[in-house]
Amino acid sequence: MKTALILGSNSDVGIASAHRFAKEGFDIYLATRNVNQSQKNLANDLAIRYQISCETFQFDALDTEVHPQFVENLPLIPDVVISVFGVLGDQEQASRNFKEAARVVNTNFLGNVSILGLFAEKFEAIGSGSIICISSVAGERGRKSNYIYGSSKAALTCYLSGLRAELSSFGVHVATVIPGFIKTKMIGDMQTPAPLTALPEEVGEAVYKAFSKKKSVIYVRGIWWLIMLIIKLIPENIFKKLNF
Ligand SMILES: NC(=O)c1ccc[n+]([C@@H]2O[C@H](COP(=O)([O-])OP(=O)(O)OC[C@H]3O[C@@H](n4cnc5c(N)ncnc54)[C@H](OP(=O)(O)O)[C@@H]3O)[C@@H](O)[C@H]2O)c1
Repeated sequence: MKTALILGSNSDVGIASAHRFAKEGFDIYLATRNVNQSQKNLANDLAIRYQISCETFQFDALDTEVHPQFVENLPLIPDVVISVFGVLGDQEQASRNFKEAARVVNTNFLGNVSILGLFAEKFEAIGSGSIICISSVAGERGRKSNYIYGSSKAALTCYLSGLRAELSSFGVHVATVIPGFIKTKMIGDMQTPAPLTALPEEVGEAVYKAFSKKKSVIYVRGIWWLIMLIIKLIPENIFKKLNF
């Protein structure tokens, strides 16, 4: 039996990914900063529905000092680690208040560097394993409306690219999943164009595809690859005048 660990399992994308992997017969470890009743209910539901075993664990991306202990306390090293945790933060606050900027960067970037680095070491030693991590199109070019979040994701995408190159010769797979908009609690009531907005289940499917097809980088909706290509080609002198 294979095991998948979901870091940030209370997220809409985390729940969808847990269902997708459980459907394939994976045992599931749900890791969340708040092991509440809804996470326990999710664990029971997954176990009964897919006839797998499912456990919950306390995990806080910001509490990097206890990450080594978190990894050592797992019953076994999972076959696949899926990192979906993240915070959007408030751009206006984050650009003027360093504490808010640090919370966003420390969660989205350093939280991943800390926990994924520990699994990278384990996987490298055994010569197998997969790391699937959710970044964002926001990390492909800094926009004035969300450049603190965007830069945390840019750093994450860059980190994953280097980690992939480092680990590939050890038989360890690293995938970067790049969504555009996702209809989750992160964006709340924000109105986004339907053709550009994925459902959490689509992201769960992309995460599974990234794993099963050993993808390096996967855009959740292909159209975003084209959009970002165009956005990246806009000269900086024009880009700085655009209002988005
Ligand atoms: N929604 C979008 O439009 C969009 C677009 C591109 C990329 N993404 C990325 O997709 C991923 C999933 O997000 P989502 O859309 O599913 O949003 P979400 O439902 O808000 O999920 C984010 C999750 O991160 C968890 N989290 C935040 N800080 C944490 C910490 N310090 N330690 C552990 N967990 C922490 C939250 O925990 P709690 O449940 O306890 O709050 C929440 O479950 C994120 O990496 C996000 O950046 C989202």
